[in-house]
Amino acid sequence: MGLMAGKQGIIFGVANHRSIAWAIARSLAAEGAALAITYQNERLGQSVRALVDESEMQARAFQCDVASDQEIAHLYQEVGEYFNGRLDFLVHSLAYAPQDDLKGRYVETTREGFRVALDISAYSLIAVTQAALPLMTQGGSIITMTFFGGQRAMPSYGIMGTAKAALEHEVMVLAAELGEQGIRVNAISAGPLNTLAARGLRDFTRLRDYHRERAPLQRSVDPVEVGKAAVFLCSDASSATTGHVLFVDAGYNIMGY
Ligand SMILES: NC(=O)c1ccc[n+]([C@@H]2O[C@H](COP(=O)([O-])OP(=O)(O)OC[C@H]3O[C@@H](n4cnc5c(N)ncnc54)[C@H](O)[C@@H]3O)[C@@H](O)[C@H]2O)c1
Repeated sequence: MGLMAGKQGIIFGVANHRSIAWAIARSLAAEGAALAITYQNERLGQSVRALVDESEMQARAFQCDVASDQEIAHLYQEVGEYFNGRLDFLVHSLAYAPQDDLKGRYVETTREGFRVALDISAYSLIAVTQAALPLMTQGGSIITMTFFGGQRAMPSYGIMGTAKAALEHEVMVLAAELGEQGIRVNAISAGPLNTLAARGLRDFTRLRDYHRERAPLQRSVDPVEVGKAAVFLCSDASSATTGHVLFVDAGYNIMGY
């Protein structure tokens, strides 16, 4: 029996087979979880639905743009029916910042760029958690994806670093508040991975090479390793862990000089 047998959960943020959300979905499904997998819009819908249908997973794909409270409410109505009213875990694996704000100098971030980046990349964790609570009646596990650029100055990570700092703070406060309901909230801080979102960053290749050179394990991270960490955090194996940022970064974050 897998670590996730009998558990059912929702995973936000599959754009394609490279998405971290997809690696997490595969790992959770391999451990026996039943999944609701979301994609942002109809442009991505056809290929994500095909990805899910062609997989061996016990899973269904749903559409949800987290910028819309209506879409979030509609999604949970559908997912509630699909799962007969019970949700055990939630994986939030999405982020967005306007290209101009990401590619330019941090000091030139626009008010609108800041608003959108923080809304989609940070506020959305609160929005999807809030809406999940009526279904998380027997406790649960919530995880989100962060990056070390939320804890250090990385100018090429731009406004996304500020959004990740906010996201990691949310993890602490949500964990403190939802603990009494048996709901745990944690983050995975992954090393650089070659995904659609990462390619939107200025200097991503240089960032990844630098990371590989300096990380204690002297290598990049494999998405499968992020998937395994997600299984740990979503399963009862981590039953006393909450409010935590788990680094899956080949050790990069411990390095000083
Ligand atoms: N790739 C990396 O190096 C890396 C490292 C650490 C953390 N992360 C984080 O992992 C998460 C997943 O990113 P990824 O690297 O898998 O890239 P990705 O491009 O595959 O995934 C990002 C997802 O966000 C979704 N999204 C954007 N705006 C949305 C909206 N309004 N509504 C719903 N969904 C929306 C996109 O559709 C996409 O599915 C992000 O939070 C990212 O910051 C990535």
